[in-house]
Formats: sequence, structure tokens, C-alpha cells
Amino acid sequence: MLKTIAQEWPTVSCKAVDLDPTQAAYTLAAQLYDEIIADDHLIDVGYVVSRRRTMQAVPADLPQQAEAQVNIDRTSVVLVTGGARGITAEVAYALATRYQPTLVLVGSSPAPPPDESPLTAGRLSPKELKLALINQAHSPNEEVALSKVDASYKRLLKEREIRATLQRIKAAGANVEYVQVDVRDEQAVTHLVEHIYRSYGRLDGLIHGAGIIEDKLLVDKQPDSFDRVFDTKVDGAFLFSRAIHAESLRFTAFFASSAGAFGNRGQCDYAAANGVLNKLAQYLNQRTTGRVVSINWGAWAAGMVSPELAMQFAANGIGLLSVDTGCQAFNNELRYGVKQDAEVVIVAEAVEPNLQVAP
Ligand SMILES: NC(=O)c1ccc[n+]([C@@H]2O[C@H](COP(=O)([O-])OP(=O)(O)OC[C@H]3O[C@@H](n4cnc5c(N)ncnc54)[C@H](OP(=O)(O)O)[C@@H]3O)[C@@H](O)[C@H]2O)c1
Repeated sequence: MLKTIAQEWPTVSCKAVDLDPTQAAYTLAAQLYDEIIADDHLIDVGYVVSRRRTMQAVPADLPQQAEAQVNIDRTSVVLVTGGARGITAEVAYALATRYQPTLVLVGSSPAPPPDESPLTAGRLSPKELKLALINQAHSPNEEVALSKVDASYKRLLKEREIRATLQRIKAAGANVEYVQVDVRDEQAVTHLVEHIYRSYGRLDGLIHGAGIIEDKLLVDKQPDSFDRVFDTKVDGAFLFSRAIHAESLRFTAFFASSAGAFGNRGQCDYAAANGVLNKLAQYLNQRTTGRVVSINWGAWAAGMVSPELAMQFAANGIGLLSVDTGCQAFNNELRYGVKQDAEVVIVAEAVEPNLQVAP
């Protein structure tokens, strides 16, 4: 969160200092004083006894030709939160294509009916679809609230996306189940995990991709909005890690964001949540035999990156990960990444800023 505040308030010095509690109070006071007056723009600083440490992202290639650390096959069962939509759905589909495991996909939306209503099926343009939705729900001459039409339209697009994911995964030869669970709901999460062990007898992997954004500068951020964004990632991660039998889990992957590693203007809640995922991954990875990794993704050309946002990224020289590149990177990280790497950043190469597309 501090990394975001530092970007939103450039004239304010922001720093998180980890102190060593074994040291005397006057030593800690001196270290804090030095950090407050240091004009170094560092945000993460830690002391081990009197040794000062800072964090830095460094390029780290995966080991070449190494034996796979994690194997997935037709007998594996993988739980994927957020897995029916967006980039997590793409990753789930890539896993289905490669390994045909059983995938349990989780989202907060209800499961869609198997087939779309003939009144909207096949219609693609927003105008056509909204008109069909108005006709479907209302009699002629009845007044229609635009907000209701908009809500139905959004629901329909979500249903289409979930249905398409399930169909693609089945067609790839994998077994797939979709479950409606709000990942912030402790009871629902516990029941889901119990259901998986009861129905499939095992759980080999967890991919926690559920997440939302509601970007606003900190000065404009409302506490309930902060909580929605933060809790979806953080409560979800804590609840699943508590409910799952860690001793038989072979891998956990949190879908974090580069906003967690570096902060991002307008995303104090989202950056804070992703920062927590990073530290939780460190914590869990030290205490389990399976690998736990938090992947700080840069922007993808899919999912929550809308076409407008993609244009802003292009204007600022930020490259987007294609679906193929992102899915390949995930597969490589999972199979060949090393246990001690609990926090990784995967971003696309920078591109030449395209100032013409700046909004
Ligand atoms: N796309 C990117 O460029 C990018 C970059 C960095 C990191 N990431 C991370 O990758 C993950 C997926 O992002 P995306 O772009 O694919 O987003 P997306 O298209 O908006 O999908 C988000 C997914 O999370 C689910 N979800 C949201 N709230 C939930 C809740 N309370 N309970 C259960 N499921 C919930 C959604 O399902 P329902 O709508 O059914 O709830 C949906 O499946 C996120 O964690 C995001 O932070 C994405």
C-alpha cells in the first residue's frame, strides 16, 4: 500500500521498516531516525541485527532442462478460483489441453443455464443484445430502467464467458465442475473444500485467481470499496489455505499483480492485497512440502484489462502478455520454478510508447 501512496503523494516520504525485536530500544530508535531522514526513496527496508537490507526485483531465468518439480496428469485435481473467466480461465484451459486433469472452477456468479435463450443467442453487438433483453423482459410501451438492462447485459456476458470456458475445457478432454462460491465466505469455502475431498478423494493444486479492481486514488477511496477489493484476494487466500489439507497439496499459485510488487497509482487496495498474497506465499512455502508461489503478473491482453486500459498501457510503453505467452509462462513457472522462489514477477517486455493512442 505504501508503494502506491508513494506514487500518489510524490512529496511525502513513505517507508516500511522491519526492525529486529532482539535489539535494544535505543538501537531501534536510531535505525528509525536514520530511515526517516534518509533521502533514498526506498520503501521496503529491513534490519537483521544492525545489517540493513532492501528488496529489489532481479532478472531470474528458470533453470534450463531441469526435471519438472510439479507434475499434473489425468488423475490430478486442481481447484481454480476465478477460473471460469478472464486470464485464470485461459490458464485453466491451457492446463486442460496439456494434462486433462479434473478442474474445479469457482466464481461468485451463478452457474449459467446450459443453453442461452434463443432470443439473445447469436447476437453479438451490445445494441442488438440490449434490445433483445428489453424485449425479453418487458411488454411493449412499458418503461424500462436502463440500469436494469445494463445489469442483465453484464450478467449475460458473464454467463456466456463461463459457458464458453466450461465447453472449451470439456472439449479438451478434462473433467470440469463449476461451483458458485464467494471466496470471502468462510462457510462456503469450507463446504467446497470438503465437497472436493469427498467427491474426488484428493486435491493436488490450488490456483487462487479470484480478484476485482475498483481503481480510485486513496483520497477518493471509500472503505467498503477498499474492503471488497482487498478481501476478495486476501480472505480468499487465507480461507482456502486454512481449509485445504496442506500435507497432500503439491502446489499453490496466487495470481498477484505487479501492483503488489511495485505499487500502482489508483490501486492502494489492490496493491495492498497483492502484497499480502506475496508475504502469505513466503510464509506458507516455508511450512509446506508443496510449492507455494505468488505470481506478480504484469498486464495481460485479456481479463480485467479493458481495451481502454490496454490503450493507456500502450501509450505508456507497457507491453501486454499475450494469452499464449502468459499460459506458457505459468506452465514453466509451475513445473520448473524452484521451491525457494515464493514471489515472482512476470511481465511483458516494454514497448515503444505509442503516444497517439493516449486517451
Ligand atoms: N488481467 C491482467 O492483466 C492481470 C494482471 C495482473 C494480475 N491479474 C490477476 O489475475 C486474476 C484474474 O484477473 P482477470 O483479469 O482474469 O480478472 P477478471 O476477468 O475480472 O476475472 C476475475 C475472476 O474472479 C472471480 N471473482 C471475483 N470476485 C470473486 C469472489 N468474491 N468470489 C469468487 N470469485 C470471484 C470472477 O468471477 P465472478 O465474476 O463470477 O465472481 C472472475 O472469474 C486477478 O486476481 C488479477 O488480480 C490480472
